[in-house]
This record gives sequence, C-alpha cells and structure tokens, in this order.
Amino acid sequence: MEAASPAHAAVSADIPRRQVDFEFDPAKVPLDWYRDDVFVSTFLDALSLLFPEGERFFVESVKKLRHHVQDPDLAAAVEGFIGQEAMHGKEHRAFNAMFLAQGLTSSVRLERQLEGLLDRVRRDLPAPSRLAATCALEHFTAMMAEASLRHEGMRDGMHATIRPLWVWHALEENEHKAVAFDVYRAAGGGYVRRVGIMILTTLIFFAFTAWVHAHFLAQRNVLWKPWRWVRGATHMWIYPGWFTRLVPAYLSYFRPGFHPDDRDTRALLATWRERLFGADGELRDNLRGVWVPGAKVA
Ligand SMILES: [Fe+2]
Ligand SMILES: [Fe+2]
Repeated sequence: MEAASPAHAAVSADIPRRQVDFEFDPAKVPLDWYRDDVFVSTFLDALSLLFPEGERFFVESVKKLRHHVQDPDLAAAVEGFIGQEAMHGKEHRAFNAMFLAQGLTSSVRLERQLEGLLDRVRRDLPAPSRLAATCALEHFTAMMAEASLRHEGMRDGMHATIRPLWVWHALEENEHKAVAFDVYRAAGGGYVRRVGIMILTTLIFFAFTAWVHAHFLAQRNVLWKPWRWVRGATHMWIYPGWFTRLVPAYLSYFRPGFHPDDRDTRALLATWRERLFGADGELRDNLRGVWVPGAKVA
C-alpha cells in the first residue's frame, strides 16, 4: 500500500456538483469547431465520445470500493466526484448528439464498441485494477484540463458556443483529480498495480481514441488526405505541441509516492471558479443550481 500524506487531505475536499445546461445547436456550430481544423476538432469529438461511458465506468469503480473510506472529508469528496462526473456525462451526451446530427453517424456504432470494451474490462479485471484504470484516466483528464486552464492558446481556438463545455469540465476535473486516487489508496491499492495498469491503460486509451478518430476522419473524407490533417497534428504534437508538453506530467505518475495534488492547482481553481461562476461569472447564466455534499447552497 502507498503511504498517505495528510498534507493532501484538504485539497480534494471542495467538490460541488454544479448543475449546468449548455445548448449545442448543430446548425450554428461549424463542423471544424476548433481553429477551423478538421484534425483537432474530430480528435476532441473522439475524446467527447468516450466521456459518457468512460465516466460511468469511473463512478462505478469508485463506488465499488468506497466502503474502505474512513475519512469523512474523502467520503464527501466521493459524493462530489459522483455528482460532477454524472453531470459531465449528461452534457457530453448533448454535445455528442450535436456532432451526430452534423453527420458523424459512426459515433453510434463506436460508442457500442466502447461499451463492449468496458464490459470486457469489468469482466476481466478485479475491482482494485478497475479503480487503478480510473486513476490512470483521471490523471490524463487532470493533465489535459490543467493545461487548457493555464494556456489560453488551447482554449481560444474553440468555437464560442463550445468553449464553455470544455472549460467547465476542465475546472471540475481538476477539482476532483485526487478522489479516485485517494479511494484507491484507502482501499489498499499498491504501486505495482497502479503503474502496471497505467501502462496498459495508456496503450488501450491511445489505440481506442485513434480508432475513433480515424473513423471520424474517414467520415469527413480526409483520412487519406494528409495535407488536411498535418496542420492539426503539428499543432498537437510539435508546435505549440500541447500533448508533447504533457509528457513530464504523465511520467510523474510513475514516481513512487506520487499524488495528484503534488501539482498544486488551488490558486488556478480559485481564479477559474470566480471567472466562470462568480457574481459576474461567464457561465453564471448556464448554472441551474449548486449542490455541495452536506449542504444545500443554491
Ligand atoms: Fe469528467
Ligand atoms: Fe474525472
């Protein structure tokens, strides 16, 4: 079992479930909604396709082992985590329905394939390994989310009607980034399983995401037109190379004693909470209510 550090306990305590409602009008959003770039737009569509079923899997795997949690703060954080992920699934389903309506019809079949893959993982992996896979994927989402909150260049290419979804999701992924990890540790999860499952998860995640992405590119008739996607691939991997920049954060997961809160994002989160949901927050109009585990706030 990995050692717990009390210094981390307070960071993951404040995880409200914000009930939001975004509108995605297929007639108003361009197909290439990210920087007018088919490669990056369909890559983000592919990620979004994975979220509803993927996040349902995360919630299940945390629920399965939450009985090991003794710390009341962590128990409250688990409630917040479940609420946030459920809301992400709901809004990403709405987003996915938009690109389905715009013609990415293969998304229906691809989501069924994802369900099949996750069912196989449920069948073949024991509960601690399923939670380790959740920790690995939560590390991915936390890394990408933090980068998108820190670097305007990652956000400003998004169409104005789509940006709120991704920025809200990024904020909440960072708010709850340590929850699955802390439950894994409370359940006695160890280092070898954690890093072994990370390697397996990385391979499966990239393979499946590439599979979905390739189908979307094919459906847009650009799979065999490299000049149409070289620009996007360069943007992602070379300059500014957002994904290449994440490699050090990815590798930090392999350090014994790693904890998601080693990267202190409290100041970043405070800034974004105010900016999005403060008195004059950009997403205030999209907010239908806020529920904090243990207290009804609004
Ligand atoms: Fe999420
Ligand atoms: Fe998450």
